[in-house]
Amino acid sequence: MIAPAAVHVRAPGKINLSLRVGAVGADGYHRLATVFQAVSLYEDVVAEAAEGISLSVTGRAAAEVPTDETNLAWRAAQLLADATGTGAGVHLRITKGVPTAGGMAGGSADAAAALLACDLLWGTGLAREELGELAAELGADVPFALTGQTAIGVGRGDVLTPALARGRFTWVLAMSDRGLSTPEVFRVWDEQNPAAAPVPEVEPELMHALVAGDPHGVARYLVNDLQPAAIELRPELQDVIDAFEASPSLAAIVSGSGPTVVGIAAGPGDAADVAESVRAAGVADEVLVVTGPSLGARLVEPVAAEVD
Ligand code: C5P
Repeated sequence: MIAPAAVHVRAPGKINLSLRVGAVGADGYHRLATVFQAVSLYEDVVAEAAEGISLSVTGRAAAEVPTDETNLAWRAAQLLADATGTGAGVHLRITKGVPTAGGMAGGSADAAAALLACDLLWGTGLAREELGELAAELGADVPFALTGQTAIGVGRGDVLTPALARGRFTWVLAMSDRGLSTPEVFRVWDEQNPAAAPVPEVEPELMHALVAGDPHGVARYLVNDLQPAAIELRPELQDVIDAFEASPSLAAIVSGSGPTVVGIAAGPGDAADVAESVRAAGVADEVLVVTGPSLGARLVEPVAAEVD
């Protein structure tokens, strides 16, 4: 059998164009209705044949990422090994491009990439749906990192329906070096919303604007129910949103549980102006222009091949 010695998979970070939060369900998770879009900021995972499971991390804020069995990519490899009964091992080399604890699901992208990379390395040959089921066990955002593009997520955010989006949208990200804890943001949301509706819904107008490829329409319906909770925990986020409002950005919201703030631009030229304006305000540690939608977890290249 020909087995690759190493496999390189890339998975995207995401933003939530709409994040509607409802009451906590029986599983302890909040019911969500969200629209995800994968953007051009990536996690790269190289899976190399090894004894047992091990992991190393380089790239953006790598020092803050655990390299033991608590890392979601390690747990992904372990889950796949347990589910398939393979005795094979792996060393995962992760290069981070998505901010850590930034509300863009970087850890979930690592887990999705690790699932696909190990499946290819080990030749366990799971179908995409089977990988999706394992992904949902790892975290609410992991299935989306596998599928990418634009999708509606309900349930915990893990039950996905692909959404049509025409053309490319240009986004400006204002990132912070200090992450926010997702469970903490949901806890503050609980305090702020003692009588939450059980099941939230996504605005049809947003879906229409996506199909039309209309950034002005999308801008009108950008919404994040977690934003007030993120701002309560990190009041400076309001300054970041104000900086976008003083720029040519069409609208800006906190991404997911924050602290990344995402602004939408009318096009690439405007995006450069938005980025320059937000940078000049001095309210963010890093400001980047990205586009979406991007593909989900995918094979970049088989790094090498050897005959077993
Ligand atoms: O699933 P994931 O590990 O990404 O979620 C992190 C945390 O965010 C959960 O442990 C939970 O506290 C909170 N969460 C939630 N409801 C969701 C998704 C996440 O309460 N639908």
